[in-house]
Amino acid sequence: MSSQQAPDKQVPQQTVEAAAELLRQGRLVAFPTETVYGLGADASSEAALKRLYQVKGRPTDHPVIVHLADVSELSKWARTVPEAALSLARAFWPGPMTLILPRADHVLPQVTGGQDSVGLRIPSHPLARRLIETFGGGVAAPSANRFGRLSPTTAAAVAESLGDDVDMILDGGPCSVGIESTIISLLGEQPVVLRPGMLQVKDIESVLGCKVTLGPAKAQAEEVSAEVRVPGALPSHYAPHTSTAVTDAETLIELFAEGMAIGRSQGVLAFAPTIETMKTNFGSRFYTAMATEAFITAPADADEYARKLYDSLRQLDSLALHKILVEAVPQGAEWDGVRDRLARASAGH
Ligand code: TXA
Ligand code: MG
Repeated sequence: MSSQQAPDKQVPQQTVEAAAELLRQGRLVAFPTETVYGLGADASSEAALKRLYQVKGRPTDHPVIVHLADVSELSKWARTVPEAALSLARAFWPGPMTLILPRADHVLPQVTGGQDSVGLRIPSHPLARRLIETFGGGVAAPSANRFGRLSPTTAAAVAESLGDDVDMILDGGPCSVGIESTIISLLGEQPVVLRPGMLQVKDIESVLGCKVTLGPAKAQAEEVSAEVRVPGALPSHYAPHTSTAVTDAETLIELFAEGMAIGRSQGVLAFAPTIETMKTNFGSRFYTAMATEAFITAPADADEYARKLYDSLRQLDSLALHKILVEAVPQGAEWDGVRDRLARASAGH
């Protein structure tokens, strides 16, 4: 997958106008953001939101993020905009960050999941920005996959996942970030990161000049009916169909050897040194056991890893293997978002 986004100009304005018109009619338009593709609906239309939940197959009490074109729109959707929100907006918007703020009165319960807060984001992908600006309102958009499955990072993955249920797909090339936005709640006294992403806690802290906690995503997962609902915090969210295990290199090699001994088909996503070790250990048996496409060398760089993560899992998942073995990622904070998604991908397997 290339890290380049297709030039924005490739999609003619006429197409963007048509997409905005569909949104106005209450229809669904999938569009690229820098994180993952979103399934967009008019955030002010009950009928559009109803359809959105149906197509997602998502429980209706789960909130969706409203995508905006400009910071000046914040006060239309949030009843208070704290100074911290403006500082973060200046630093990281447009970009892969979602802020949870107290909702304005008109915000529909279908958007907030019945809560008193709303998630807001200004994406940076040029095509997303053109769509939202042309539409002229807030665009509610969860990731453009069925509930609980891998998020799409290409237009092809959206089409495969949603088929005819989506009225239009805008193709903006592969997503440059690759995992969902960092979600920051500004509801309490201290900012809390509810979902880690590629925007890191230390960067948020340096803008706000205060301590920011990395939220209890696991704890929330265990109390999904609790006050703040984050479906992304369900343990098995973002899961491939194939049984997936995340382990250290040594265990991965052991498990692979065990599987190979009994003729099981296995997929591997591991760092280069681990793959080299496997080649040395297993020699020619390794090459006959593994189809090359079932074997992905993971990038050593966290940004590049994130960019390719869902596509790699999707590729391995499509092979109907017995098991997918993923090498655990390093401990550093730059891996927080990736580690979180891998934990969810392997939960429940
Ligand atoms: O990068 C992204 O955030 C992508 C792109 C399309 O923008 N969107 C995305 O949406 O990941 P979705 O619906 O798959 O995940 C949105 C997350 C959910 O976990 C949801 O619970 C949380 O945002 N969320 C939205 N509003 C919230 C609120 N008021 N309070 C707490 N969590 C909220
Ligand atoms: Mg999602």
